[in-house]
Amino acid sequence: MQRQPILLATISLLLVACTATNEKHVAEGGWVETGPPALHAVRNTQLREMMDRMDSLMQERFMTETEIDSERRKYAQSIAKNAEGMAKTVEAIIAYMPRLQLTPSEQDTFLALAKKLSDQIQHLHEHATQNHIDAIDESLHIINTTCTSCHALYRKTGG
Ligand code: HEC
Repeated sequence: MQRQPILLATISLLLVACTATNEKHVAEGGWVETGPPALHAVRNTQLREMMDRMDSLMQERFMTETEIDSERRKYAQSIAKNAEGMAKTVEAIIAYMPRLQLTPSEQDTFLALAKKLSDQIQHLHEHATQNHIDAIDESLHIINTTCTSCHALYRKTGG
């Protein structure tokens, strides 16, 4: 009986620890579970395929991260190549947008976020071709924020 509060405290601590770990893990990925959308949930198979492509291009970087010290140049080159692939995918997403059945103002916001992503990918590409590894990391972080912002508005998760 006496032990129960301690046990509860331990469980709470564990939960807090797990949540913190999850958040960190998620921040390292290409996209984040964003919960119910604030604006308009978009469901579209074609869009999902393009998103998956962008996602795997983002993920590839995490696989090669450990090689940074020994193969910085190779790493930067692969980022540059992936940035080119992502730029093409964003173009395709923008061209596809009219089929997503969004209202004009929803389209504006969607487009603004897609263009923001496009600019950020352009910067990533520049950093990569100039072999600025630290700037690449920062750039990927910023890009991740844009992925998450758009998902918060347009993506329905868990259903
Ligand atoms: C302009 C808005 C927008 C931006 C920017 C955006 N996404 Fe998405 N993303 C969506 C929407 C909407 C969906 C939901 C599509 C659906 O469920 O049909 C989605 C879904 C996804 C999915 C799930 C695909 C699946 O098979 O269920 C992944 C993965 C994803 N996005 C990755 C990314 C990554 C990585 C980035 C940034 C590099 C990104 N997205 C940027 C709008 C966006």
